[in-house]
Order: sequence, then structure tokens, then C-alpha cells
Amino acid sequence: MFSVTSTRKLPGRRLSGFYQDVINGLKASQKYLSSKYFYDEAGDKIFQQIMASPEYYLTRCEMEIMQHQSGAMAALFDGEPFDLVELGPGDATKSWHLLRELIRTKAHFTYYPIDISSNVIGWLEDKLPVSLPGLQMQGLNGEYMDRMEYVEQISQRRKIVLFMGANIGNMTIQQATLFCRQLHDRMRPGDLLLIGFDLKKDPGTILAAYNDRQGVTKAFNLNLLKRINRELHADFDIDQFGHYPVYDPGTGACKSYLISRVAQQVHIGDEAVISFSENEAIFMEISQKYSLQETYYLARQAGFSPVHEFYDSKKMFSDILWRRLP
Ligand code: AVJ
Repeated sequence: MFSVTSTRKLPGRRLSGFYQDVINGLKASQKYLSSKYFYDEAGDKIFQQIMASPEYYLTRCEMEIMQHQSGAMAALFDGEPFDLVELGPGDATKSWHLLRELIRTKAHFTYYPIDISSNVIGWLEDKLPVSLPGLQMQGLNGEYMDRMEYVEQISQRRKIVLFMGANIGNMTIQQATLFCRQLHDRMRPGDLLLIGFDLKKDPGTILAAYNDRQGVTKAFNLNLLKRINRELHADFDIDQFGHYPVYDPGTGACKSYLISRVAQQVHIGDEAVISFSENEAIFMEISQKYSLQETYYLARQAGFSPVHEFYDSKKMFSDILWRRLP
């Protein structure tokens, strides 16, 4: 429907954060890079292609949930005026349906999308008031927890927080528990949190979503090496790396690796030299899958209680509503 193009030009301080993270990851005994750096301008475009690929079911499933069940969701939000905070809204094509329903039912709320990309926020502030007349909104550019504290300062209303798109999957279960705890600490008893979980299912279906036949996911991973070449003046030979995704149906962890085809050295800037042995792996990304039981456990560990699960028709994906416990 819409498309977001963001350049995410980083100021000097954060550029050096990128450099430090890359060096730390590639100097570790088990090499890794952080998937949060996938999303430069080219990465955003490749991610759009992933979402449109036949194997990547997640976006279509969550879209189906939002198209068909926004009314039921809005009904569960009924009550006092509230602030609707969305963490990482993207182009908001999914939450758009919920926003439309809330406006239609005359809910009293202000929408606060929070994103690290000022391009995303600028784009939403341009487009949403046009496609959703009557929407009260204020876009917030920055880190999730920091901007949530800001919303708390400017408004005393109850909070409903959206964290959709299976973005929680990019954390290990342990990291997700800590993250949800941090959200809990910035919410008040009775506040609501809607999280999108990709559910455990046929392992073949999951693996295929991260191993698409057109090689879009491969390009998505390799794009981070290209970004490092460009922004950090490195000399990765992209053709000398293969993409290797794995899914463990026991733990629910889907992991992507890039594999060095040969023994090689890569320079990053003038200072750093990274040596790869033949077939050495760089861990690129986790996309954690959950059973319903595991979401219950996560909720409890983080101080929430499950209110309702919204599923797509095939029960592949769930947007789950939690209430913050006292
Ligand atoms: C945006 C984190 C939900 O893990 O499924 C898609 C990112 N990586 N294909 C996911 C991704 C490779 C995606 N999330």
C-alpha cells in the first residue's frame, strides 16, 4: 500500500556506535553482526521485497488479523481516553486498520508512533492525517524506552502500547523477557500491550520464509556487508559469502548465518583486519518463534497477564493483548 524509504543517515556519534558494534562482533570468537543494522535505505527496500515474497507468510498473516479483527481489538481498548504508543510502526499499513476503527468508534486517543528513523516519522506525519481524517497524532523520533518516558511526561492518560510485526522475534527469549520488563516498568497497572508473535509451526514452512527461492533474504543479509563496505570503508567481497539459515523446532530459534566460502581477510577502515577461515560463520539474525505456552510464560516473567489472542485463519501468527499487572 505505502512504501517507506529511509536513508537513516547517522550522525557521527552513532556512526561510531555502528563501527564499534561491527568490530566487536567480528572480533568475537563466534563472529556476529546485529540485525538492527539491516535497515539502511537499500535494506528497507529489500525488506519490502521479503514481505512480498511467496514464502514470507508473517506480514500477510498479521495483515489478515488487523483487517478482520481491528473492531474486536478496539472494543477491548474501550474506556478512559488513552495514548496509543506504537514501537517501530514501519509504514503503519497494519496498525492503520486499528486506527481507522478507533476513529470510527470515536475513541479518545492520541497516536504516538516511535521510530529510530526520522524518515519513518516524517513520512507518517505527512500521510496519516490525510488517510485518517480526525487522527490526533505526534510522531516521536528516537529510542523506544527513552521516547516512552517522554510520553509519560507529557500525558497522564492510560497507555496502550503496540509492538507488532514479530519484531520481538529479533530478540532471544531472555532478551525479550528483559525488554518486556522494561516496557512494564514504563507502564502503569491496567495499561495494555499488544505484541505480534510468530508461532511455532511446520518447521519447513518457517525455514522457507527465511530461505526464499528468489534469494531476497540472502540479499538482505549480504546487504549489511555492503553497508559496512560503504559506511565503514571495508572491503568485503560479497561473492565470497553464502547465506545459511537454520530453524530449530525444539527451541523455536530461526537463525541466519553468512558463511565465508574461503579463508580470507577483510579490512575495515585503516585500523581493523578480520581473518576468516574457510566456512567460518557470521551469526546475523535470530527470528524467535513461540508456542502459546511460551508467550504465557513470557507475559508472567515480565509482569503482564494475557487478555486475548488474535489469530489469522491458519493460526500461524498471533497478536496477543496483555494487561500490565500491579
Ligand atoms: C522484521 C524481525 C519480523 O525476523 O521475520 C525477515 C526480519 N529477516 N526476513 C523477521 C526478517 C529476514 C523479520 N522481522
